[in-house]
Amino acid sequence: MKFSAEFEQRFTEMVTHYPSKRSVLVPTLLYAQDEVGYLSDEVIAEIAQRLDLKELDVRNVISYYSMLTTKPRGKYNVQICTNIACILRGADELYHHCQDKLGIRHKQTTSDGQFSLEEVECIGACSWAPAMQVNYDFHENLTPEKVDAILDGYKKA
Ligand code: FES
Repeated sequence: MKFSAEFEQRFTEMVTHYPSKRSVLVPTLLYAQDEVGYLSDEVIAEIAQRLDLKELDVRNVISYYSMLTTKPRGKYNVQICTNIACILRGADELYHHCQDKLGIRHKQTTSDGQFSLEEVECIGACSWAPAMQVNYDFHENLTPEKVDAILDGYKKA
């Protein structure tokens, strides 16, 4: 498996910052996912080997974090938090609004490959609920109108 020179440079530097290789697992998975698009079997095997881990250990960590995926997603991964603070401030309505606007349901991708949608647990933005995360961007104090403007903005990008 071959990653870019930039990935290799980041990886080489990261492993020097921690006492154990395992500590760089999550950032390494994120960098690999950004580069490949998702964490394929090949990527998982490569990272496990580099960090002296079992593939099962790597898969267990992937299954814990909603940011990580073993399946291809759309260019923009829309994650709507429907945990308690957000649900009390309208997240359920927002989630259904997104489903209707994008024409997809949980963990589905639009046919043009632009958007994927996911209902997720707390994303740590409770004080600004309801909130969603699109790739690495946080959007807070949402309303259906704000969500429309945000998604339309990504569509044009
Ligand atoms: S409950 Fe939604 S961000 Fe925490």
